Amino acid sequence: MSVQSAIKRKTAPDILARKNGEPIVMLTSYHAHTAALVDRYCDVILVGDSLGNVMHGLETTVPVTLEMMILQGRAVMRGSDRALVVVDMPFGSYEASKEQAFHSAVRIVKETECGAVKLEGGARMAETVAFLTERGIPVMGHIGLTPQSINTLGSFRAQGRDEKGWAPIENDARAIAEAGAFSVVIEAVAEPLARKITQEIAIPTIGIGASAACDGQVLVLEDMLGLSPRIPKFVRRYGNLGPSIEAAIEGYAADVRARKFPGPEHVYDMKKS
Ligand code: KIV
Repeated sequence: MSVQSAIKRKTAPDILARKNGEPIVMLTSYHAHTAALVDRYCDVILVGDSLGNVMHGLETTVPVTLEMMILQGRAVMRGSDRALVVVDMPFGSYEASKEQAFHSAVRIVKETECGAVKLEGGARMAETVAFLTERGIPVMGHIGLTPQSINTLGSFRAQGRDEKGWAPIENDARAIAEAGAFSVVIEAVAEPLARKITQEIAIPTIGIGASAACDGQVLVLEDMLGLSPRIPKFVRRYGNLGPSIEAAIEGYAADVRARKFPGPEHVYDMKKS
């Protein structure tokens, strides 16, 4: 007997079909519990390699491994059942060759059951994007500021601020779209360029610090909740959870010190929050 969920999860083709349509809502999540919340409101959940910064306190995403991505990807899949889950391919797992990328992407989709992978890079990754999509793995591109290249970029600065620098970024967008990606993240790109790219290519653009000219937006959940220690300037905060969490922990510590904690009759009475 086959057991099928009554709820249909969004797919990469569903997201592709949103070009020039209703804006695509996307957030990161790395855990089952936040995935369940994000799933109610978002079209796409990104298990971003930003988990290296947010969960593990790393300075950059460079040290993030395939195993870290797969572990958190599985948690997010368990917590969600509507949104398309996209898992980032970490630095070093796909750049050497299209075959290396395929083996890493297969591990990600088999072990997490996510619906797509994301990789950084434009024209230089086009052949790899085509190789994966032709073999059944939907790919989301990521151009503009590509954080995995921090060691060659030198700093996290906006891209294409000056019109003279637009051509390579436009070329990257076209190459990724023509290679068969179903959408592309455009990070830290000036509004006129983001608008031009969005008009020029046939797949949805999803901006992060790239303006409302894009077909959708992605943010790091902890940034917009006010939980990350360092938050990029362009991020609008929709919450300020850091201080609320600290106040709750302070209250808890005070209660324990005052010996105010319940016995087992309360501990095992599980209620849904
Ligand atoms: O890793 C991540 O969270 C990302 C987004 C910032 C787009 O790639």
